[in-house]
Amino acid sequence: MGTKGREIVGMDVDQVVELLNKAFADEWLAYYQYRLGAKVIAGPMKDAVTAELMQHAADELRHADMVSNRIIQLGGTPLTTPSKWFDMTNCGYDDPADPFVSKILEQNIKAEQCAISVYHALIETVGMKDPVTNNMAVQILQDEVEHEEDLQSLHEDLKMMLDRRA
Ligand SMILES: [Fe+2]
Ligand SMILES: [Fe+2]
Repeated sequence: MGTKGREIVGMDVDQVVELLNKAFADEWLAYYQYRLGAKVIAGPMKDAVTAELMQHAADELRHADMVSNRIIQLGGTPLTTPSKWFDMTNCGYDDPADPFVSKILEQNIKAEQCAISVYHALIETVGMKDPVTNNMAVQILQDEVEHEEDLQSLHEDLKMMLDRRA
């Protein structure tokens, strides 16, 4: 914990840590959901979607790292056990039990949209009271916005292909 770094936070630090731990749970669940989805996925355009999902999974793991680093800077403790992920998550977990490409894409688009809402809300909550958390959340939000667009564009291509065949 950096004492001055913590002192400049103009709001309840425990509240920031709580919000960060919730986002931390989301990132791990998203990482697992996308990574597993990339393995089990089946159907048309599967290779293109797999490549995107693997990239997104790597990004979510990097986000989990960024968030946990910030929690530690603030003197908090990142969730120490996966059993807490489900208690803390904002976005939950969609089991990729149905491996069809469009189903996986829909689940992951929903997860990205939830992540966008979570980081947007975090930025609004901390504002300039905690500029370091704000800056980190903006960086992650940029990735999540890009992820949503990547997946929606694949979903549109897939839909166009399936519609033409029908
Ligand atoms: Fe993320
Ligand atoms: Fe994402």
